[in-house]
Amino acid sequence: MKEIALITGAAGGLGRSVANRLADSGWQLILVSRDGDRLAQAYGGEHLQVAADCSTVVGARQIIEVAKAHELLPTALAHCVGNIRLGALHRMTEADFNDCLSANLISAFHTLAAFVAGLREARCGGAAVLVSSAAARIGTPNHEAVAAAKAGVEGLVRGAAATYAAAGIRINAVAPGIMETPAAAAILATVSGREAAARQYPLPGIGSPDELAELIVWLLSQHAARVTGQVWSIDGGFSSIRPLIK
Ligand SMILES: NC(=O)c1ccc[n+]([C@@H]2O[C@H](COP(=O)([O-])OP(=O)(O)OC[C@H]3O[C@@H](n4cnc5c(N)ncnc54)[C@H](OP(=O)(O)O)[C@@H]3O)[C@@H](O)[C@H]2O)c1
Repeated sequence: MKEIALITGAAGGLGRSVANRLADSGWQLILVSRDGDRLAQAYGGEHLQVAADCSTVVGARQIIEVAKAHELLPTALAHCVGNIRLGALHRMTEADFNDCLSANLISAFHTLAAFVAGLREARCGGAAVLVSSAAARIGTPNHEAVAAAKAGVEGLVRGAAATYAAAGIRINAVAPGIMETPAAAAILATVSGREAAARQYPLPGIGSPDELAELIVWLLSQHAARVTGQVWSIDGGFSSIRPLIK
């Protein structure tokens, strides 16, 4: 029987990389976006495609209900929803801050809750991976909003991992530096912006969603059966070491 994975933000840069890898490994996929047309463009008629907003309780539960109606129970979740809202704290508008919290933290909370509820109802174990950011791990100028939201994601991961470990449900996060995806397009749009971004990292460069997807797929697999409650950095050393300045 095929294993079943739920991927949110599936029309985005990271979501597509994760979906391609899991599909290549024979997983059956449930793909979520707020915009069904974006999913159809990206995947044609492949996989179960669900148009829902997982930053609401109703939307998150709807995903599991649609899956159930197709007799599918996802035992893996890659929650690839989020955005990057940059700006100094005193300049951040209420609307931008709320959007940042909603996309990054509130969506993670409701989606994980609905996923776990489905597993518990079926008395089944599973694994989830949420996406944090290097900015939650080390103070980075103008990243206050996203740092606050992603730090919340990391707290959610540890709390939920503790609650559900006994039920065989593993919950981890990954924390990337900047990656070549639509979320970072504005930052990487100019040559100078791209070079400045790349130079920040002890291992200089811009991350790729494919390398992060590899880590996510591993965390969802049985190879990581003893791993839970962890946040895995993949940020060129940005959050833990200082480069040698010559
Ligand atoms: N790219 C980077 O440099 C970077 C760095 C650190 C962390 N991250 C994190 O990596 C994850 C994947 O992002 P990505 O880089 O693949 O960006 P992306 O291509 O923009 O994909 C993110 C997806 O999130 C969904 N989304 C955005 N705002 C939402 C909201 N308010 N409610 C519900 N869904 C929303 C969008 O899906 P629909 O519009 O299709 O619904 C979008 O396609 C995110 O958690 C992001 O914060 C990215």
